Amino acid sequence: MPPARTPASPGAPRAAADAPWPGAAAPGGTAPVLCGLGSWLPPRRVGNDELSRELDTSDEWIRSRTGIGHRHVADAATATSDLAVEAGRRALKSAGTERVDAVVLATTTPDRPCPATAPLVAAQLGLGTVPAFDVGAVCTGFLYALAAGSGLIALGTARRVLVIGADKYSGILDPRDRSTRVIFGDGAGAVVLRAGDPAEPGALGPPLLGSDGTGADLVAIRSGGSREPLREAADGAADPYFRMDGRTVFRRAVERMADTSLAAAERAGWAAGDIDRLVAHQANLRILHAVADRMRLPRDRCAVHLDQVGNTAAASIPLALAHAVAGGRLAAGHRTVLTAFGGGLTWGACALHWPELTPV
Ligand code: ACO
Repeated sequence: MPPARTPASPGAPRAAADAPWPGAAAPGGTAPVLCGLGSWLPPRRVGNDELSRELDTSDEWIRSRTGIGHRHVADAATATSDLAVEAGRRALKSAGTERVDAVVLATTTPDRPCPATAPLVAAQLGLGTVPAFDVGAVCTGFLYALAAGSGLIALGTARRVLVIGADKYSGILDPRDRSTRVIFGDGAGAVVLRAGDPAEPGALGPPLLGSDGTGADLVAIRSGGSREPLREAADGAADPYFRMDGRTVFRRAVERMADTSLAAAERAGWAAGDIDRLVAHQANLRILHAVADRMRLPRDRCAVHLDQVGNTAAASIPLALAHAVAGGRLAAGHRTVLTAFGGGLTWGACALHWPELTPV
């Protein structure tokens, strides 16, 4: 029998036989490299005029205040996992692989409050018993999920990770609330990360993330959690719908996305003007322009997709990436910054040289 091991005292040098952890120095590097991109939108496309027939709003108001012209809306039988599976399958195909070692799903609209949706998505993609978990950071969710997937690679837990952003906001909006109904759409986007070298195209710089829980009420579903269970507010006082204080969030979104994007660019050794493409969370065209102005970046370097799909929450960045590549606006070698802001409050940014890949 081997002798019992006594734990080393904190700070004591580790015995040579204990280090490194298996996999920590895996051949091929431990930098997360983006190598596949897929997206999926439910087929039903809803224009501003259709909403104007149901709500006290107009195409003119929606376009001038948000830049949105259409959004896609999933039918009642479609859950977030269905959207995520479609996007995930396409990202795997884009990466030329059928296997990953982990699945991270960013969503605010899981299929059910419990359990997480990611294991179901992994199973439906035929990925076996890989680790799979959800990340909840509202519209910043995709960047938080990228950070989590990158961590799995850096630690040697996984060599390949499928990172998905998927949301079905049509299921949590108050059908009578014109201030949110016109903004949000359903959809999913996904990327594959693989272990590689930090100098390769597609290698992610460190995601810079932040949060401010003092603003938790600004973007929220009030009822249905442990603070205010639905059954305890059954007298009609419950509010199970998504609510947003748009005006306050607007200003904070601009400041946080601009400042964090500049910080991410600086970490990559770039000045603001070096950024070829800013792929920001697609909340509002006026926000995209204000972010670019604050960064002193020409507005035409911002990816714009919200005119077609609205705000798709956690799916917004990978959907915008796929749209930009397909339209020739984002190409291999572009110095690219991804940034988002959302409920929590949460925000983040991440820089990379865009790699050669074909989105599916
Ligand atoms: N049609 C017509 N009028 C409307 C509509 C509509 N669809 N929605 C609101 N209005 C009215 C309001 O009632 C208000 O009327 P009042 O002046 O008589 O009170 C007026 O328009 C102005 O309302 P505001 O809320 O001040 O409008 P604003 O110009 O700020 O635009 C919007 C609202 C589009 C929501 C904007 O504030 C915004 O984009 N905010 C940021 C959203 C964001 O970034 N969210 C974070 C990420 S989302 C997430 O995490 C899930």
